[in-house]
Amino acid sequence: MTIDELTSLGESQSSVILSKSCTLLPREGNPEPRYCDLPHGSINSMGLPNLGYQKYGEFAPLLKKYNKPYFVSVSGLSLADNIKIISDLSDIQEIAAFELNLSCPNVIGKPQVGYDFNQTRQVLGEVMRITKKPLGVKLPPYFDFAHFEEMAKILNNHKISFVSCINSLGNGLFIDADSEKAVIKPKGGFGGLGGEYVKPTALANVRKFYELLRKDIAIIGVGGIATGRDAFEFLLCGASAAQVGTAYQQQGTAVFARLEKEFAAFLEKKGCHSLDEVKGKLKTINN
Ligand code: DHB
Repeated sequence: MTIDELTSLGESQSSVILSKSCTLLPREGNPEPRYCDLPHGSINSMGLPNLGYQKYGEFAPLLKKYNKPYFVSVSGLSLADNIKIISDLSDIQEIAAFELNLSCPNVIGKPQVGYDFNQTRQVLGEVMRITKKPLGVKLPPYFDFAHFEEMAKILNNHKISFVSCINSLGNGLFIDADSEKAVIKPKGGFGGLGGEYVKPTALANVRKFYELLRKDIAIIGVGGIATGRDAFEFLLCGASAAQVGTAYQQQGTAVFARLEKEFAAFLEKKGCHSLDEVKGKLKTINN
């Protein structure tokens, strides 16, 4: 969220710097506690705290020296806000791409766009017209083949560059039986789940979209990646890159060097010399 955090990403072994999802105006976000580590992951209801989109534009030249792509995540509270943010930031050369967040589960009164197919169609129709930069979308998890198919049909009609699957599994509830309380304060304790809890759902979403999307739409796998072996599983399902949320929150930027090392060691143990040998090559049980 801050320039210090983005700078540490620059200095880390991550291959990309991705900003916190930004809105038109700065936001404090929801009341604390709004994030909690759990035995197998995390729950959050941050409510989009961020410095406002202009700051993420101003940071772009400061991050250039790290020589890695800087992606700005955009989560405007309305279509008009998304259009304003993306068109203003499109003039900034040092921004490599936008990740349009269609799936923040934590703002009261703002249902996740990605669960409303008509709204998604409208947003993409308008937004794709206003930028020449690569644009991808961050999707919520889907659970029904009909929904995967409907979303894939919409995405295949647009020149999007990538999808990030999945955002947090929305509106879980984690409670402490001793205190008889929810562990986070906003929304009566409801929040987005991340980490190990969501990995099978994330793998399923990556796999399904890999089957259904045009091959030029890259998939960024996200959801419970904490080891090199996890990253390999996402590659098998068809992901071209990995995004790390909960493990980064828990371990800081050192997680990227560890993941890279473990991933390389895992590939070597398998005797793999290129990612294409593995990407999307998940086997199923056929006898
Ligand atoms: C927030 C939560 C998300 O899952 C997301 O993708 C973006 C923002 C939040 O509550 O701040």
